[in-house]
Order: sequence, then C-alpha cells, then structure tokens
Amino acid sequence: MLGQTVVVMGASGGIGEAVCLSFAKMGANVVACGRRNPILETLLEKLNSQKIETSSPPTSLDSNVSTLAPKLKSKYAAEIPCAILHKQHHNIHICDVSNYNSITTLLSYLQKHSSSVSHLINAFGITSDSILLKQPLADIQRVLDTNLLGTINSCKAFSRIFLKQRYGNIVNISSVVGQHGNRGQAVYAASKAGVIGFSKALAKEMGPANVRVNVICPGFIQTDMTKNIFNPETQQSSLEYNDILNSIILKRFGEPQDVADGVLFLSKSKYITGSVLNIDGGLFI
Ligand SMILES: NC(=O)c1ccc[n+]([C@@H]2O[C@H](COP(=O)([O-])OP(=O)(O)OC[C@H]3O[C@@H](n4cnc5c(N)ncnc54)[C@H](OP(=O)(O)O)[C@@H]3O)[C@@H](O)[C@H]2O)c1
Repeated sequence: MLGQTVVVMGASGGIGEAVCLSFAKMGANVVACGRRNPILETLLEKLNSQKIETSSPPTSLDSNVSTLAPKLKSKYAAEIPCAILHKQHHNIHICDVSNYNSITTLLSYLQKHSSSVSHLINAFGITSDSILLKQPLADIQRVLDTNLLGTINSCKAFSRIFLKQRYGNIVNISSVVGQHGNRGQAVYAASKAGVIGFSKALAKEMGPANVRVNVICPGFIQTDMTKNIFNPETQQSSLEYNDILNSIILKRFGEPQDVADGVLFLSKSKYITGSVLNIDGGLFI
C-alpha cells in the first residue's frame, strides 16, 4: 500500500473512517470523500497524525527521508508519523455520489494533483426503513440514487482511469440484507442486492485489464447507521437488540474495524475478484 492512493467514498461514516485510517496505517495516501465537511476535517487531522504500522522498511523513501538521522529512521515503525516518513498526502473532498458530475469534478482534481489512484472503496450508504406500502416515493428514489446509482456512478467514473492504467481495485460495500432481505428494508435490500450483481458483472468486464471488483456484506456493525439499535439507554430492554445479538454466532456486534480489515484483505489479494465477503459474525450460516 505504501505510496499508493486510495479514494474512499463515504469516508465520513463509521465504516468509511475505519477504512481510511487502516489504509493510512499501511502507508497509503488517502482521499477521503463525503458530503459533511466538518467531519471530514476532523478525519483529516486523524489521518495526518496517524502512525504507520509495518514491520518492513519503506521501499519508496524520498530524498527528505533518506537524510533522516539513522537513529530516527530505525525507530520509524513506532515513533514517526507516516507523513514524515513517506510524505503521505491525505486529502478530503466533498462529493455526492448520487451526482455523476460531483464525481467527475473530483476525478479532474485528482488527475491534476495526485499520482495515479489504485484503490476505490465505496463505503457510503443510507437507509430509509419502512414497509413498502407506506414508504414515500421520494425516499425510495433517494435510497436507490445513493446506494445503487451512487455505486454505479463511482465505479463508472473511476473505471476510465483504472482501464487506462491497467490496474485498479474496487471494493463495494453491500449488506447481508441484500442477500437475505429484511422486513421494512425492501428498497434498501434491492439497492444492496443490485450492488452485488453490478459488482460481479463489472468484475467480468474489467478483469482482463487487471481491475478487480469485490463486495463486502457486513452484518450488524456499530455505526451511526445502526445507532437506534445500539442506543445504550434502550438496548438492554430492547427486544430487537437481544434478538439480533442471539442470532449472531460470535455473540457480538461488529466494529467498523472488522469491516475495514476485510477491505484491506481484498485490496491486497491480487487473485480475488468477483467475490462477496460476508463480515457478519456468522449471522447467516
Ligand atoms: N452499519 C451497519 O450495520 C451496516 C450493515 C450492512 C451494510 N452497511 C453498509 O456499510 C456502508 C457504510 O455504512 P456505515 O455503517 O458506515 O454508515 P454511516 O456511518 O451512516 O455512514 C454512511 C456514509 O455514507 C455517506 N453518504 C450518504 N449519502 C451519500 C452521498 N449521496 N454521497 C456521498 N456519501 C454519502 C455519508 O456521508 P455524508 O453524510 O457526509 O455524505 C456517510 O459517511 C453503507 O453502504 C451501509 O449500507 C452497514
């Protein structure tokens, strides 16, 4: 990952942030995208103070680094912020994935200011839970525009540069709900099932150009998206909370880092494409 650039869409979310920090720890340059600037600003501070976690020496030290005192260099793994060792450049961008122009604006900026992008992680998403009969048409549109069309927009925009450079890694975040359905989430399920089918087809299209496309299906992960379930004031008495917990084989809810670990695994695995990785604590085995 050292010196490679990753674009994370949905970086202001729980899973997106964990993905950004995990890539930064591996020495990557992170382009963190979302719609809420204050949250992205805070994330940028975290990224810039991130320490690298690797046991092998960096391979692309620039001239500044090569002049560092040997004692300082020998301690790099534990002590020195990534930015000093590798001149990491992290960026934040406002980007609305449901708007194709918003993504192409980002792309134009990246092409002017960054080295090539190697990884695209689509970690955005919204829910709008309701039984279908009562769900307003506007909400249906919003969920599809964000979760499904947003994934298509993002992959389409980046496919141009990935195909041209004949290298690229895409990880799309779907959901176990896209595989199994869930009452009150028919539209969300449709959007997430769409992401799986779309990603498999794209893997077939882009594989010959060495562009890999994989999907992760998280189960119940503790983020803003699931905060109603995890509200400490209600969870002890919540039937839903206990029902869900009992149905998870590992008997715990997931952390954003559990998903980020899977994203990194897929990003580093050069011979995996078109796969769907469930990270759900065994919810559906
Ligand atoms: N948490 C779970 O239990 C769980 C389970 C299964 C699947 N997932 C999936 O995992 C992914 C991440 O979810 P999360 O749990 O991290 O939720 P989260 O904390 O609510 O984050 C969602 C992110 O999506 C971004 N987003 C929403 N609309 C967007 C748009 N139009 N353009 C760009 N970004 C947009 C939000 O950023 P802004 O508001 O700043 O734009 C936010 O950063 C989603 O695809 C979700 O469906 C989550």
